[in-house]
Amino acid sequence: MASELTRTLFCMFLRNLFRSAVITALISLAAASGQEPKLINGYEPKWWKEAVVYQIYPRSFKDSNGDGIGDLPGITSKLDYLQKLGVNVIWLSPHFDSPNADNGYDIRDYRKVMTEFGTMADFDTLLAGIKERHMRLIIDLVVNHTSDENKWFVESRKSKDNPYRDFYIWRPGHTAPDGTRTPPNNYPSYFSGSAWTLDPTTNEYYLHYFAAKQPDLNWADPKVREEVFSLMRFWLDKGVSGFRMDVIPLISKPTGMPDLTAEQLKNPPNAYANGPHLAEYLHEMNREVLSRYDDMSVGEATGTTLAQTSNLVDDRRHELNMIFNFDAIKLGRSDFGLSQLGPWSLPELKAIYDEHATVLTKHDWDTVFLSNHDNPRIVSTFGDDSPGMRVPSAKLFETLILTLRGTPFLYEGDELGMTDFPFKTLADYDDIAVKNAYKALVDTGKISASTFLASQAKVSRDNARTPMQWDSTAEAGFTTGTHPWLAVNPNYKEINAAQENSDPASVLNYVRALIALRARSLAFVYGDFDDLDPQHPHVFAYTRTLGKEKYLVVENFGSAALDYVLPNGLKAGHLVLSDMPGSRQSQVSTLHLAPWESRIYQQ
Ligand code: NOJ
Ligand code: CA
Repeated sequence: MASELTRTLFCMFLRNLFRSAVITALISLAAASGQEPKLINGYEPKWWKEAVVYQIYPRSFKDSNGDGIGDLPGITSKLDYLQKLGVNVIWLSPHFDSPNADNGYDIRDYRKVMTEFGTMADFDTLLAGIKERHMRLIIDLVVNHTSDENKWFVESRKSKDNPYRDFYIWRPGHTAPDGTRTPPNNYPSYFSGSAWTLDPTTNEYYLHYFAAKQPDLNWADPKVREEVFSLMRFWLDKGVSGFRMDVIPLISKPTGMPDLTAEQLKNPPNAYANGPHLAEYLHEMNREVLSRYDDMSVGEATGTTLAQTSNLVDDRRHELNMIFNFDAIKLGRSDFGLSQLGPWSLPELKAIYDEHATVLTKHDWDTVFLSNHDNPRIVSTFGDDSPGMRVPSAKLFETLILTLRGTPFLYEGDELGMTDFPFKTLADYDDIAVKNAYKALVDTGKISASTFLASQAKVSRDNARTPMQWDSTAEAGFTTGTHPWLAVNPNYKEINAAQENSDPASVLNYVRALIALRARSLAFVYGDFDDLDPQHPHVFAYTRTLGKEKYLVVENFGSAALDYVLPNGLKAGHLVLSDMPGSRQSQVSTLHLAPWESRIYQQ
């Protein structure tokens, strides 16, 4: 009996042993067959790390029906152009139904296409055209706030006991003995004035970090989160490949929302961003939505420092893939209110990228960009847009963006070296940020109209929003109509895609070559980044190294030619790309660099 039991137990033991051996063998087989992630230089490979993203601001890209407003069929008609450029992900700024207080960043209906941009059928055609060309589409997720015309807010403002009341952030504010009402706290809006507006129907204030027509959603309400996750699934199920998430660190509000201190008022985004529940909300979003699709997510990280980046993107946290950090793009300028174009130096710019390389780990992933629809043009801001220097300086910044470490984001028109617009009067602008700031600063006598207009001309977001310059016909070929929603830059006869397409020395053809070069080597994606000469005032020289493969990038940031001696006895290898037809120097240690010249050597 006892021996029978022993035998049975022994058999069970053997069976279990066998089963666990089989499981272990299966696991190692899975690992060997590539089911376990195979790291490249310590990084987990992902399609979105290898992508080159191109941002389209639909209003300004291409008008197909002559009403002066860019639209979805217009974009579809230019997909071959984008494919030839070599980009493989398109980020579309908001295309949803909107009253356009902030050009689509105020959404009325998340499941409808903006009437001016077309129909859902036009969207489906666009998406199919993108996929046919082996590209992907990511869309803008604007869910810190909605439009005040969104049905949720229309309901919310009706009464204090409306089922949608808690979808937004309502407070009674303060009432003085004489009955004067003042907002609940001193929060300023990104678009001037208080971030609170008193709504007469229920006599309470609602919060809006941006315009009064952009009330902030209350993410503390689980029903809000459910609605957001549901609309995300709606678009992912249609086939989009992810989201650029508008001001995402703002969704969790500071505990108790006390007044900002004098110190915090110098930089309100830092106080508003990264609230106590941000990680919880993003984690839930990842679990409920993002992790179920092969998508990418990039958060627009207003108010977020480099040190805080890992809290959002470390892949062990399962929140976002990447964020936009504004240290480089805002160099010398502020991220809030009326910013001025300040002085900046190359060592400062290099220090930003050097710090990114030190602080971010192999579990984080970076983005590289110097432009978008909220910033002036790269070549006018960081380069030199004078006639002789525009082309080489535009090429230099594209070289930088496409060879630094991180997923590069290009903005429409930068591949042509498009410049700032010669803004003169307030009437030249469309942007609500400019109009509100004018009321708050000029109308109140705080600064003169001429000071205001001079500074806006250099920093205004409208610089990036003038229509794409397609050719030298009327209105730059953007529209067949005569009234584009924002004026075309008068320099379109010289700067346009048709002309650049046929000019081998154009910015456009250079960017095509750069993207093609990047596509040939993963060293530009996963390779280490080393700044060879951080203190040099005019030259940025760095290497990208992956195993035995090494590239040396040398860029002359200035309008003067110079002789540059490579540091540490280094010799330049084989020249693989240069923006100057004449430069053919290889295997030398002193480089004769023309103004704004950039070169890429394979070592
Ligand atoms: C950031 C967007 O990029 C900008 O265009 C917009 O005005 C604000 N967020 C508000 O949505
Ligand atoms: Ca149109």
